[in-house]
Amino acid sequence: MNVPQMVKPKTLEEIEKMRIAGRLAAEVLEMITPHVQVGVSTGELDKICHDYMVNIQKTTPAPLNYHGFPKSICTSVNQVICHGIPSDTKQLKDSDIVNVDVTIIKDDYHGDTSQMFIVGTPQQHAVKLVETSRECLYKAIDIIKPGIRLGDIGHIIQKHAESNHYSVVREYCGHGIGRTFHEEPQVLHYGTPGTGLKLQEGMTFTIEPMINLGKRHTKLNKKDGWTVTTKDGRLSAQWEHTIVVTKNGCEVLTARQNEHYFRG
Ligand code: MF3
Ligand code: CO
Ligand code: CO
Repeated sequence: MNVPQMVKPKTLEEIEKMRIAGRLAAEVLEMITPHVQVGVSTGELDKICHDYMVNIQKTTPAPLNYHGFPKSICTSVNQVICHGIPSDTKQLKDSDIVNVDVTIIKDDYHGDTSQMFIVGTPQQHAVKLVETSRECLYKAIDIIKPGIRLGDIGHIIQKHAESNHYSVVREYCGHGIGRTFHEEPQVLHYGTPGTGLKLQEGMTFTIEPMINLGKRHTKLNKKDGWTVTTKDGRLSAQWEHTIVVTKNGCEVLTARQNEHYFRG
């Protein structure tokens, strides 16, 4: 290599651990799915996930105490973009959309994944936002292979979001992941083809596009220090997977059973 190697590909042993961590993170989402219903509080969802991780999986919930985050998962409802704090007084109501973001640690390695749920009666504008944001993630996954660049990933996400008249959040991004929750590189969800870090086999990172129905601008709740909302108060949606770059493509380490997304 003639360039400084800032982002080191994982070894086969590390990737095997990432595979296990990724599957466990996905299993938390599979487990919580039937509980995401009208009337449940996000605090209850957090407690169910926490108990499952700690007592059944014997995993560590990575968010808990991470830079002071007070809960074990993130729950981001409607205009909340990311880092929503679960609360016993925040009950899900009919037609809400909610992102549940799970990160577990197993054998020192992280698995990080999130999905959207539509609660009760789906509203057409929300369905379209939720589906388009999922397509953004899948379109990015589809182009990943050694030799492409991070700018290619950002570009394909931005193109799909903006061609549907949505906007892409700039202030938060995907990230390298391994023994560390958030490591290099930053994976932006917007960008220019042919620019940025060139992908190599064995690199592990997340892709987690946050797509807004209205304008892209964000607002951080200064009281709790965590909750990020849209500035205009309109809906936002996000999906996240942890992936590893393989010889010919990528493997989705956090694929769920019903999801049929697993390329070698
Ligand atoms: N899971 C989030 C991500 O995808 C990070 C949450 S950090 C927390 O990167 F502290 F808010 F939990
Ligand atoms: Co992440
Ligand atoms: Co996450």
